[in-house]
This record gives sequence, structure tokens and C-alpha cells, in this order.
Amino acid sequence: MVILLLGSGGREHALASKMLQSSKCSTLFVAPGNAGTAAIATNIPINPTDFIELKSFAIQEKVEMLVVGPEDPLVSGIYDFFKNDSELSHIPVIGPSKVGAQLEGSKEFAKEFLVKHKIPTAAYDSFTAATVEKGCLFLETLQPPYVLKADGLAAGKGVLIIQDLEEAKTELRNMLVHAKFGNASAKVVIEEFLDGIELSCFVLTDGQQYKILPTAKDYKRIGEGDTGLNTGGMGAISPVPFVDSVLLDKIETRIVKPTVEGLQKDGIEYKGFIFIGLIIVKNEPIVIEYNVRMGDPETEVVIPRIKSDLVELFQAVANGNLNDVSLAIDQRSATTVMIVSGGYPEEYEKGKEIFGLDKMEDSLVYHAGTKIENGKLVTNGGRVLAITSFGNDFQEAIKKSYQNIDKLHFDKMYFRKDIGKDLK
Ligand code: AMP
Ligand code: GLY
Repeated sequence: MVILLLGSGGREHALASKMLQSSKCSTLFVAPGNAGTAAIATNIPINPTDFIELKSFAIQEKVEMLVVGPEDPLVSGIYDFFKNDSELSHIPVIGPSKVGAQLEGSKEFAKEFLVKHKIPTAAYDSFTAATVEKGCLFLETLQPPYVLKADGLAAGKGVLIIQDLEEAKTELRNMLVHAKFGNASAKVVIEEFLDGIELSCFVLTDGQQYKILPTAKDYKRIGEGDTGLNTGGMGAISPVPFVDSVLLDKIETRIVKPTVEGLQKDGIEYKGFIFIGLIIVKNEPIVIEYNVRMGDPETEVVIPRIKSDLVELFQAVANGNLNDVSLAIDQRSATTVMIVSGGYPEEYEKGKEIFGLDKMEDSLVYHAGTKIENGKLVTNGGRVLAITSFGNDFQEAIKKSYQNIDKLHFDKMYFRKDIGKDLK
């Protein structure tokens, strides 16, 4: 089968590696990919939101499946674009329809879905420029800290958590009236703050049947001890050690099942991943967000733990018979540490030569922002490499990742040294 994968991060390198383990995958193209995917598949220089270019390529290369890594093409409607084009409609797309992708594309849509289907979530209200003063009055009814969320996609920066009431009101006005996040903050969701521990639950669904993939915990802040600016993620661990069968059962019955049933009740086509962001408050799971794709770097620990044939799972998603395929999971723990360019998530330099990858022992290396330049491997983004290791517990796994990272080097390389230190 000829498969086209969209995206260019560590997530896509991990998905590509797993798909290539399948005998069902004869050719894998990645658009646009990175130096890691170039080494195992064929990169093509097409932007994942350029549907017209993707169409020509898919026809020319007789693509038989499209797997979508990032959210942008999904929110822009790539599923519907393929489905409604007579030359492309035979190609299954792994990812939700445009309406389904609104679960990530609009915080307000997600909150309405959660409330409608009685799925536990933080209390909220939403506001526009016309109702900004009502929003300020709503803030006065809440306890600090105040959680303000831009409705639309804001590259992971659209959530503000603010201690001071007056500052929260100012930021609300900045978002709604002064377009702090452009059109993404034309609407703002104000949400009750939940005090608890976060974890991510991943689901693969054909729209009716579903499989729960391993849980993962992400480390979002740039600084050790979870300080500093939010990033796309600085490391991840799977499984999450504090998730026992009782909690998993609650997550399935109260959140996963009603989510998939809600999609059906609302007539929303959804054949892909659902990434459910949860906060556990007093042992009760509460949804803080949906994403309509896998997480990055969570994919770099979740996908390597899948022992089953991923392409076979995707085919079952496309055919609507996911229950006919089994999902086998490696019981060991997996951890990943993200290696980033100094300065990330703000300004950073690119083009730094990366040394030491040939010295890695017993770890998987997933490339994110890398490319080959004049025959050399160089940095090409903020997040550069994810170093994943297995162990009988996460402590053993993380030790291996750090031992290998000691052998890696590039100018201004940075990583967090405390991944997993908060867990027992
Ligand atoms: P999101 O973009 O929705 O993942 O939010 C970014 C981060 O903000 C999350 O990872 C949480 O750490 C935090 N967050 C979001 N919603 C809440 C909430 N209601 N209470 C506490 N923290 C939250
Ligand atoms: N690691 C968080 C995300 O992918 O959104």
C-alpha cells in the first residue's frame, strides 16, 4: 500500500517508523518530513495545507491512504476535501472530518459538545467583543486563578492562567477587543480553574468502535520544576504511573465512551485519533481539552509501545471494523526527552550541526526540527530531537535516555533534566 503521511515533527517520525514495520506498507511518502523521515521514507516538499498540490501528488503516485499528523490540515477540512473529490474519494483519510476537527479548532465547540453529552469538564462561559464587559463581570464571580482560552487555534499559546483579577480583565479585553491572538481570540472561553494533575488519554476510533491507546504525561514548560513558558512539550512518559485500573475505568466510562457516542449522536464523521487532555481532581477525571491528532512528544512514547500492526489498525479505522483487530501493548515503560535549540520557545538559531547520534545505544531517536545541509545533519527548528527509551519502569527508561543525551551535542543545545522527577 502506498501511504502519504502529513507533518514534519517527532510525531511523524514515530508514526512513519511504526507504519514501516508493517508488511502492508510498500511505499511511504512524508510531506514535508524532516531528516529522520528522509532516512526511512521519501520526503516530498509539499505544505500539508496545500490541498491542491496534495491532490496532484496523490493521483500521480497512486496514494492509497492519507495519514494526517498535525491539526491544521484537519481543521482546514482535508478529510472532506478528499471525500468530496471524485478523483480522491477512494483514498481513506486517517483523521476527523472538518466538523469533527472543531473539537480542537474551537474551544467553544468543544465545551458545548462536552456539556451536551454530559462529559465532566470545568464550568465555563464564552464571550465576544460585544459581550466583553459581561465577561469581566463573570470573572468577578470566579476564584483566582482565572483561565482564559482563545477559541481558535493559537499555536499552543492561546491559554492564559492569571492570578490577578484586574490583569485577567485586561487580558480578556486584549484578546477580544485588541485581537491578541488575531482571529483566534475573537471569542474567548473563561473557565473554572482545576487544581489537579494532568495526563493525556489517546483514542483511535472509526467513529463507532474505539481502542484506548496507552496513557502519557507530557512536560509542557521550558524550565525545570515546570517553570517558564509553555512549549509544545519537553518530554513524556507512558504509561502514567499513577493511573490504576479504577481511574482508567472512570476515564473510559465517563469520558471516552460518551465522546465516541456523542460523535455518533451528532452525526460527526470521525476516523482518527482523539487526544483527550485530562486533569485528575480528587481521583475524578475532568476534560480540559480535546485535540484531534496525536500529541507531540506523547506520540514518541505511545506509538513505540504499540506492538500491533499500525497500518492494519488504520485500515480497520477506514473500513469501520476496528473491533476486528486487536491492540497489543508493550508492558514496559517508555520515556522521551526533547532536545531543543537554546532560546526555544522564543527566538532561537537554526543550522547548528548535530554530533553524537552515531553513539546512541538502546534508545530510539526521533527527529523533529532537523535537516541535511551540505551532507551534514543540522538543526532546523526549536524542537530538534526526541530521545525515547524503554525500561521495566520509567526510572530505568529515563536513565537510558539521559545516558544517551550525554553523548549528543550541538551549539546551544538545551533539554530538561527533570523529566519524571515529580512521579513515583
Ligand atoms: P490547553 O491548550 O487547553 O491544553 O491548555 C494549556 C494548559 O493550560 C493545560 O495543559 C493546562 O495545564 C492548563 N489548563 C487548561 N485549562 C485549565 C483549567 N481549567 N484549569 C487548570 N489548568 C488548565
Ligand atoms: N504535547 C502537547 C500537544 O501535542 O498538544
